[in-house]
Amino acid sequence: MTNWIDACAPDDIDEEDVIRFDHGTVSLALYRLEDDRFFATDGFCTHEQVHLSNGLVMGKIIECPKHNGRFDVTTGEAKGAPVCVNLKTYPVKVESGRVFVDLG
Ligand code: FES
Repeated sequence: MTNWIDACAPDDIDEEDVIRFDHGTVSLALYRLEDDRFFATDGFCTHEQVHLSNGLVMGKIIECPKHNGRFDVTTGEAKGAPVCVNLKTYPVKVESGRVFVDLG
């Protein structure tokens, strides 16, 4: 089942940056990469309850602001200690000048 939610305008996210998007009980991190692709993951780091929207995007990597754990935002894969649990990812599409996230 799909459940596309209108999250923001593309320009609400700077290139190579991340914003927080909350919807109901779900909190996401929405990323815009340098090549203008958009991705979404769970917002909270899998190490501790720290929101990744305060982290640093480098290429396709998000670095957690607390202990510098790293994830690949395109897959959610944990890439560097101390994180070892992957992030959940969500499909994203850009349509009619808006960014939509499929919350399933
Ligand atoms: S809280 Fe994210 S790496 Fe520790």
